[in-house]
Amino acid sequence: MTLSASHRFSRVLITGGEGFVGSHLAAHALAAGAEVTTLDDGSSIGGTGVPQHTMPGARLTAVRGSVLDRDCVNALVADADAVFHLAARVGVRRILVDPLATLDVNTIGTQNVLEACADRGVPVLYTSSSEVYGHGACVPFTESDPILLGSPDQTRWGYAVSKLHGELLGFALAAHRGLPFVAVRLFNVVGPGQRADQGMVLPRFVASAVAGEPIVVHGPGTQRRSFIHAADVADALWSLLGSHEGPAELVNVGSGDWISIHDLAERVRSVVGSESPIRIVDPDRVMPHGFVEVTDRWPNLERLRARVGQRQLVPLDTIIGQIAAATRAGSAA
Ligand SMILES: NC(=O)c1ccc[n+]([C@@H]2O[C@H](COP(=O)([O-])OP(=O)(O)OC[C@H]3O[C@@H](n4cnc5c(N)ncnc54)[C@H](O)[C@@H]3O)[C@@H](O)[C@H]2O)c1
Repeated sequence: MTLSASHRFSRVLITGGEGFVGSHLAAHALAAGAEVTTLDDGSSIGGTGVPQHTMPGARLTAVRGSVLDRDCVNALVADADAVFHLAARVGVRRILVDPLATLDVNTIGTQNVLEACADRGVPVLYTSSSEVYGHGACVPFTESDPILLGSPDQTRWGYAVSKLHGELLGFALAAHRGLPFVAVRLFNVVGPGQRADQGMVLPRFVASAVAGEPIVVHGPGTQRRSFIHAADVADALWSLLGSHEGPAELVNVGSGDWISIHDLAERVRSVVGSESPIRIVDPDRVMPHGFVEVTDRWPNLERLRARVGQRQLVPLDTIIGQIAAATRAGSAA
């Protein structure tokens, strides 16, 4: 590996920095000694809260604004030596209920950020999604795989297309205008601070188990996923951009350990010590129109390991325990 990110970057901009992954990344960057500015419109604040007060000497500026505001984006990028672009309308449920705003922020907002970086030669890391693989060719999903999406009346795919647009734009700006660009496809990031109301499966299961309510599994339950702690993701993102050299790159970031959604519900029950029943429901009955289920999804991690090495990840049971503790603390507050 070349210079570590903490040596290379002293002033970083994190768009979406008050969100779930963004707040973990901000904490990581502050701990590495960087000065951090976040740009967030506050539309979906989750996260751990940026932990400025816990770090004497940490330097953080939280700007309330939108990536749709080009002047604001240009001014902040001009002041940064690296940008992590996470701001987005996130998740399948969000695109189903609010497709227009999602497409706007994820495409026009991303264009504003990437072009501002290209104008100034500022390295940028862009968080894309495993959604881009769609139904996928075969698991594990590899960065060079062909992409298999459904038709546009299945609204779900709008999120994937918006994320793919950002990848393609970044690669084009890298090839034609020399933008230093890393795109990562994130696979099910989890941990304390993630909102249960966005439909993300693990916080939803834990919230139900803690409350003693039925854990609702969208059928058939045999679909398999992998889960990675947001702190492990922050570590990977920081290392990837800090050691980036040469042409644009696309890297899967996730865990290689998969589990079926039904088994995940069992694990949650066992770790939380809950008596909640597990109910399998037809997703068509509970999800908004335009939803289609994807069978299996987990990443091929060869490229990530070649770039940042093999790292010890937070185990799933520990993650479930942390989310349960945060959920109990939240409901007691
Ligand atoms: N969490 C996951 O499992 C996962 C998986 C794949 C990809 N991702 C990607 O990772 C990134 C972070 O996701 P997250 O899970 O932290 O979601 P999140 O919703 O917690 O964070 C996104 C942040 O962006 C902010 N935002 C939304 N619109 C904005 C705008 N117009 N201007 C400025 N800020 C705006 C929101 O307020 C929020 O704080 C996103 O780009 C998402 O697509 C996440």
